[in-house]
Amino acid sequence: MPHSFLIDPSSSSAVPNQAAAGSPRRRLPRVAGALAAAGLLWLAGGCSTPEEMFLDTADMSSLGSMDASANPDGSMATGELPCEVRDLLAKHCQSCHSDPPKAAPMALMTYAQLAAPSKADAKKTYAERSVMRMQDGARPMPPAPAATVPQKEIDAFAAWVSAGRPSKKCETMQPDDPFAKPPMCSSGKTYMGGTPKEEMNPGLACLACHKSKGKAAEVTLAGTVYITGHEPDKCLGGPASGMPMATVEITDANKRVISLPVNASGNFLYRGSMAIALPYTAVVKWNGKTREMKGSQMNTDCNGCHTQDGSNGAPGRIALP
Ligand code: HEC
Ligand code: HEC
Ligand code: HEC
Repeated sequence: MPHSFLIDPSSSSAVPNQAAAGSPRRRLPRVAGALAAAGLLWLAGGCSTPEEMFLDTADMSSLGSMDASANPDGSMATGELPCEVRDLLAKHCQSCHSDPPKAAPMALMTYAQLAAPSKADAKKTYAERSVMRMQDGARPMPPAPAATVPQKEIDAFAAWVSAGRPSKKCETMQPDDPFAKPPMCSSGKTYMGGTPKEEMNPGLACLACHKSKGKAAEVTLAGTVYITGHEPDKCLGGPASGMPMATVEITDANKRVISLPVNASGNFLYRGSMAIALPYTAVVKWNGKTREMKGSQMNTDCNGCHTQDGSNGAPGRIALP
């Protein structure tokens, strides 16, 4: 009966010779031993399994419907998995701990499955056991020869577990999110010169030159707007020609609002004589929609932060809303 000792919580048919049903608590020591033995056998590639190894599914079948009081730590048994937890499991665990599990005793797919008490130690949830087993040098999860989970990912998972597994839905990015798009030059055109100076060097940090080079006239605030979030330097930005015009609206510390048109290369710039009082806030307006910078800034060289990949915490380019 190769692999027949694998426990499948979602279908009792995968567990033949079901042992006589007993109270889950009373049966636990034996079950725990069986699980450990099953693990060793599994790792050793063993196939023959004593009858003892078949865990009864009576108590496992209740995992999906457990109520809050059923958790050993009294916490909720239902909820949503935050992104860092979902991603770790998907990347390192669910090739085996799928639902139904493929080469593991149980599924680790849902909140309820992580919140369920572990067979190895009913005082601990599978979430807690996961933290332990990922750092267990002798019996790591995922099992050798798979690479161990990077410490940073374990730390994030462990922090969620020790915070009491707060439910947090992992919002998948909207398909039209410009920052979810791969790097591309949407216009397909690169700046070659020969245009009005206002359209020069789209995407580059304007003030890096314009502050230091005496020849370059006073440009005190400038940047470039793009269609998507990760466009390369000198790629022409802005809404495509024929599309409605975009504007960038700056509100300075004195509540003065400065509206700057986005030109043919996607650039916008301020050359007015009145100084911009810092810090300022910024909003891109286009086609009746807005995209705003939540924070305020002291630096007026927009492209210095809004680079292709984004620096100083900026998500990438200044994108059309
Ligand atoms: C290659 C298949 C495989 C992968 C990948 C895998 N596991 Fe396992 N897992 C098993 C097997 C087999 C067992 C039962 C034997 C054992 O406990 O070692 C198991 C048991 C467990 C248990 C229950 C035993 C206990 O100690 O409580 C936990 C928890 C667990 N795995 C967590 C994880 C986590 C977390 C990951 C990803 C980081 C992972 N596993 C990846 C195969 C796998
Ligand atoms: C690599 C340095 C450099 C970068 C980056 C740069 N500029 Fe310039 N810019 C210059 C120099 C030098 C001049 C003056 C010489 C010239 O006219 O070509 C100039 C001239 C200009 C002028 C004309 C000034 C006038 O008085 O007519 C404007 C407007 C301008 N730049 C806007 C921008 C904008 C907007 C950006 C960013 C999107 C930018 N520049 C990026 C170097 C740069
Ligand atoms: C010192 C770095 C820095 C500078 C300079 C800067 N930004 Fe930002 N910007 C950020 C950061 C960080 C965020 C993300 C957090 C936030 O929204 O405040 C951001 C976000 C934005 C967003 C929203 C992006 C999104 O999530 O859709 C817009 C729009 C924006 N900035 C416009 C501008 C404009 C216009 C300028 C120049 C007038 C500018 N920024 C200058 C750092 C900067």
